[in-house]
Amino acid sequence: MAGIAIIGAQWGDEGKGKISHLLAEGADLVVRFNGGPNAGHTVVDSYGEIRLHHLPAGALREGVLGVLAHGMVIDPWLLREELQEVERQGRPTPRLLISERAHVILPHHKEMEVGSGIAKSIGTTRRGIGPSYADKALRLGLRFADLADQDIVRERLSQLEGIHRNPARPPVDLERVAQELFEFYAVFKDYIGDSLGTVSVALEKGEKVFFEGAQGTLLDIDLGTYPYVTSSHTTVHGIASGAGIPAVKLDRIIGVLKAYTTRVGEGPFPTEDVGRLGELLREKGGEYGATTGRPRRCGWLDLVALRYAHKVNGFTELAVTKLDVLSGIPEIFVCVAYRVGNEKVEEFPASLAELSQAKPIYERLPGWKEEIRGARIPEELPRAARDYLRYIEQAVGVPVRLASVGPRPEETVFLF
Ligand code: IMP
Repeated sequence: MAGIAIIGAQWGDEGKGKISHLLAEGADLVVRFNGGPNAGHTVVDSYGEIRLHHLPAGALREGVLGVLAHGMVIDPWLLREELQEVERQGRPTPRLLISERAHVILPHHKEMEVGSGIAKSIGTTRRGIGPSYADKALRLGLRFADLADQDIVRERLSQLEGIHRNPARPPVDLERVAQELFEFYAVFKDYIGDSLGTVSVALEKGEKVFFEGAQGTLLDIDLGTYPYVTSSHTTVHGIASGAGIPAVKLDRIIGVLKAYTTRVGEGPFPTEDVGRLGELLREKGGEYGATTGRPRRCGWLDLVALRYAHKVNGFTELAVTKLDVLSGIPEIFVCVAYRVGNEKVEEFPASLAELSQAKPIYERLPGWKEEIRGARIPEELPRAARDYLRYIEQAVGVPVRLASVGPRPEETVFLF
């Protein structure tokens, strides 16, 4: 049995795509268990650069089966485009299994997100994620298994249109949507099946199964900075519910974090720097959303948030990405606690009001001048960079297994 979780420890965009693609060489399955095309997992390799929205990044490795498990919401139109892009780049066709229990994102979900004002107030990706999970919770969703029955599809579409009808827009051409879903089903029906059975058999057989998280811990619907969160379970707990496997089947839980912090969309972000440092990190780190192109908000590493992420997920190891972006910064700040009013706060607050007022208390660490993209072994990293990794390790209480020093798989330093 070898279940390995790859979980974002911050607000998403930690570089999980690179880590999953790197580690999945020789894996059997890579499973997405939450979210949908709000994710933008970037892979840079010999074929070029690709941004994946549904497909697990690890599934680009030859021989790996990519599983889209039932915790996901999937946009068939976008999934098709994504597979076309994989083909256009001359990559081998990924092996794919879509859970029959996964929910379909429908055109009205995107409209509802924008029309209701949620897209603006939360700063969502406008991919229909929240409304499709809402329909699922209302017990009105359409699942991939339903696509086999044209009557069910037509009936469900008209029921949804009746409930969500917005007089401000022209009525949806339900028959056109239905026909497009039937076309999708005709092409993809062999890929739709029992992902739960496949994943549990693989684990029973001792195969190597990665669970590729999307978004990050602080965007979790229950445990994140609600309401400025996504609508799924982004933490390790999402694997049990979203892929249907007992949590005890996980041997390793890899927490992926950036060497600094970014956030895209609205919501509190205590270490955000709206001045020169934020600008520098954004430009040097290419911090623009992979799904929406929006500039990401940037700031120093937040250990209060990271310790919370460890408490929630129980990381067994850490992967620190974008360490190279910090090269040339003379002094590195790390947030060790917050000040809220006159109080020093060391636990990540649940209250949005408290978190919004939190002012970071920083410790300062020496930076390094050298560019480090060429480093491949720990000894090739400057002393201060190694000390920074050690500092994180001790502050969170979890060993750092690897540091990423560039987007390509080989631009990685394994520490053990
Ligand atoms: P939604 O998931 O599109 O509903 O967006 C909810 C919040 O999560 C917004 O702040 C988004 O910017 C953020 N978000 C969703 N997916 C990602 C991601 O993959 N990376 C970073 N932020 C994300």
